[in-house]
Amino acid sequence: MTSRLDLFIDRMVSQRACLDYAIAQTADMPGPVFELGLGNGRTYHHMRSRISGRDIHVFERAVASHPDSTPPEELTILGDVTETLPWTLARMGPVASLIHADLGGHNRDKNDIFARKVSPLIEPLLASGGIMVSSDRMYFDALEEMPLPEGAVPERCFVYRKPRH
Ligand SMILES: C[S@@+](CC[C@H](N)C(=O)[O-])C[C@H]1O[C@@H](n2cnc3c(N)ncnc32)[C@H](O)[C@@H]1O
Repeated sequence: MTSRLDLFIDRMVSQRACLDYAIAQTADMPGPVFELGLGNGRTYHHMRSRISGRDIHVFERAVASHPDSTPPEELTILGDVTETLPWTLARMGPVASLIHADLGGHNRDKNDIFARKVSPLIEPLLASGGIMVSSDRMYFDALEEMPLPEGAVPERCFVYRKPRH
């Protein structure tokens, strides 16, 4: 039987593998990176330590992160993502080189319902060739699901790409 500890470890290992892959794949893209769900700030801290030359905008309802992992105010977009993502699209357009979403809680059914709701709000924000990494399966029209990089555990992380045109 897979324990909760196993699931947690698989999720963490998968997040790191998928983020490292997505960061490398988008390294030549100038557009900003979006972190959806700051939480404790571990994945934000990881991205900040490995990404240079690109702003990381953080979307969060209420900041409660570790002090070492708190984004600057001007790159923090406070509020519910169902409101702040459309607002950001109107303001910035389809610019994101990389979007990471870790918005879920403990209830997998609720996470899936929310993933269906938020997918159409995320999809138009990605630039051509941009990559989306998520802890939940997403429901996109035009993004293609990518094979997982080495080290990631199936179903614990998902990677999508907007085809280049
Ligand atoms: C699992 S935590 C993120 C953990 C983070 N990846 C880390 O490494 O520490 C999920 C976060 O998403 C935020 N969140 C969930 N739903 C949201 C929503 N609708 N709008 C904005 N933030 C949301 C929660 O407040 C929570 O801080």
